[in-house]
Amino acid sequence: MPFCLVRADITKFSADAIVNAANSSLLGGGGVDGAIHRAAGPELLAECRLLGGCETGQAKATKGYGLGCKHIIHTVGPVWEDGEQGERELLQSCYRNSLALAESLGCKSIAFPLISAGVYGYPKREAIEVAESEARRFLEDHEMDITLVIFDKDSFEISYERFEGIRQFIDDAYAKIREDKERGRREMMGSAACFNAPAAAAAVLKDEEAKPKKKGLFGQAKKTESAVPDFDACDVAEECAAEDYFSMRDESFSQALLRLIDERGMTDVEAYKRANIDRKLFSKIRSDVHYKPKKQTAVAFAVALKLDIRETEDLLSKAGYALSNSLDFDLIVKYHIVHGIYDIFEINDALFRFDQTLLGQN
Ligand code: APR
Repeated sequence: MPFCLVRADITKFSADAIVNAANSSLLGGGGVDGAIHRAAGPELLAECRLLGGCETGQAKATKGYGLGCKHIIHTVGPVWEDGEQGERELLQSCYRNSLALAESLGCKSIAFPLISAGVYGYPKREAIEVAESEARRFLEDHEMDITLVIFDKDSFEISYERFEGIRQFIDDAYAKIREDKERGRREMMGSAACFNAPAAAAAVLKDEEAKPKKKGLFGQAKKTESAVPDFDACDVAEECAAEDYFSMRDESFSQALLRLIDERGMTDVEAYKRANIDRKLFSKIRSDVHYKPKKQTAVAFAVALKLDIRETEDLLSKAGYALSNSLDFDLIVKYHIVHGIYDIFEINDALFRFDQTLLGQN
């Protein structure tokens, strides 16, 4: 997945490059810096001694030594003062220079800690926003798997309003399920109490007689004796609708996706980048008409295409999925679609905050 959030200890994470939130001496310290040095071993410090330190916002690389990576990229984040001392620009430089260095080293994947959000005091929500915006910017015209490794749950916040809005949306959905169940139970009890089978059967038969002849699907009248169906112009229109309906009903997920991309005047690249899907997976979907994506991939494309709930349900159904009202993942996705929030980074922040699978490919 081009951009991913994980809760982990970065020293146990595998990527071509692991980024260290260092200090300007590059000679180790506490926090993630200390953890990386401990895990990498003394050879890391020996190599760092040769680097001559590092300016804030800059990045330098060493070997990975005892870590699961080829390279460790050491970058020095800004110390947060009041937000007026160029802290944001320096933090942006940390990400940009680390990504540029990783690319120059031929890395296909990179893992970042939340630079400056610990000892250096950068507000966590803003630190995440800088990390995500720099990843999004880089991924517009580069391909790399970028992972933001969150060490502890309270390092990750979404806006209070968003969190409460989603929480309420989920609670309301579960309350409705309970109400419907309760109503169903009462109706069952009610009909069981006064059920009189013969009278009920007679009522059904009478009702059937009274009903006008049911029309066939899409309005065609049932075949008459003359065997020439008596349908009028609107039925013809519905006949055409029927053909569209049947042809769309039979299209695969891949065919529906490509049709929707065309209908929205999007390019393939726009579609898969907005969906947080890499080019390889998209090529697979494009070339295999029967490709069955994972649910989070199918939903990611619905978000990228800015589909409404009905259109989303329709696209998902072509891959054999549905959005339910009894799964947090589905409800969080629905919340964002209903509120017109189609930014996959924002939706993934919320899914991550609620410990759900992220949108994109997994
Ligand atoms: N894996 C992933 N993230 C971690 C880990 C870990 N093992 N340990 C800490 N973190 C997280 C923290 O929770 C925080 O969100 O890394 C983020 C950055 O925190 P710090 O390590 O304190 O780094 P920073 O805020 O940039 O301060 C750098 O601290 O460790 C010293 O030598 C370092 O002087 C430098 C300063």
